[in-house]
Amino acid sequence: MKSIFLESGQIKLYKRENSQYWQMKIKLPKQKAIRSSTGSKILKQAKKIALKNYSSFEISNKIKKISKNIYKKIHLVETADLNAKEIKFILDEAKKFINFNKRRVKKSNLLEGRTIFNLFFEDSTRTRTSFEVAAKRLGADLINVAVKDSSINKGETLLDTMTTINSMNPDVLIVRHPEEGISKRISNNVDACVINAGDGSHEHPTQALLDALTIKNRFNNFSKLQIAICGDILHSRVARSNIIILSKLGAKINVIGPKQWLPKNINKLPVEVYTDMKKGLRNCDIVMMLRIQKERIVGKIMPNQKTYFNKYGLDYNKLKYAKKNAFVMHPGPMNRGVEIDSKLADDITRSLIQEQVEMGVAIRMACLDILIKNRDNVVSY
Ligand code: CP
Repeated sequence: MKSIFLESGQIKLYKRENSQYWQMKIKLPKQKAIRSSTGSKILKQAKKIALKNYSSFEISNKIKKISKNIYKKIHLVETADLNAKEIKFILDEAKKFINFNKRRVKKSNLLEGRTIFNLFFEDSTRTRTSFEVAAKRLGADLINVAVKDSSINKGETLLDTMTTINSMNPDVLIVRHPEEGISKRISNNVDACVINAGDGSHEHPTQALLDALTIKNRFNNFSKLQIAICGDILHSRVARSNIIILSKLGAKINVIGPKQWLPKNINKLPVEVYTDMKKGLRNCDIVMMLRIQKERIVGKIMPNQKTYFNKYGLDYNKLKYAKKNAFVMHPGPMNRGVEIDSKLADDITRSLIQEQVEMGVAIRMACLDILIKNRDNVVSY
């Protein structure tokens, strides 16, 4: 019998005497071996198929083995619903996917047969695509609903659209919408899990979780950290979700921005408030810049971009006010030369912006997996 071993002997490819097809045996430590045909007579193809199966098998086992579920809810609509233990649990679950996402073959069958809908009523690059990548890497079917061409244009209400899609028995609805609180309302009207992918100026929970994971990769311990969140605080759902998540993890938060862009109730939040970058950045380990939310500043006077950059835009000079090796973050999309100096944004020794995007996929894989498993425990199929 002809045989070949891959992945330190954990995969065996072999041909039986009476067959032309390559068979595979996958054996992980302390796990029962899986034996099946690769369905291919060609060794190169058989290797590809075996590696893909190995990848799914390994990640499924890893997750089954380690997980002790702390987060039991089936929706993720507000960071206010999360306690520190739950946040840490989600971050730990996401960590398992970081290396998986660096593999040559990134495919698992963890969510095979599950149906996920992306319902984006506002523009998005990062959030929409990273949910799509996350779902597909876990083997789920993801449908991007073209909401601009949907029956909402014919007068259907948003809740009717959601209950219509809910009747197709989806597992998860991922919703971005300009109306604050809409994800929560939808979650009260459907059986599927609901993830808030940004509701107006209110919340963007997965953004704050991915930001926390990016910070955790560098510092591990949040309790000694001083983090500045700078710019258009008033209209930013990213700022609100980050203030809640990062303070629950133990970090101290400074918010810095022009007076007109600080919320009236800012003193009720666990933050120190500054209107001056020099004072606000003192001793900070992380400087998180925010996009000016032009689409939510309708009918008000916008500051001149150059004047704004001089006062609140982050460049190498202003970064000197923070700690010596402070890191820079921005949720994107960023306006170069307005919120952040272009060279600084691309400086991989200081900027974590690309890592934030990378962590977004891992966080969203974890959230989809956790919520779907939680729902399995309460739904009778
Ligand atoms: N950070 C963020 O939400 O980006 P998108 O608008 O591109 O999704």
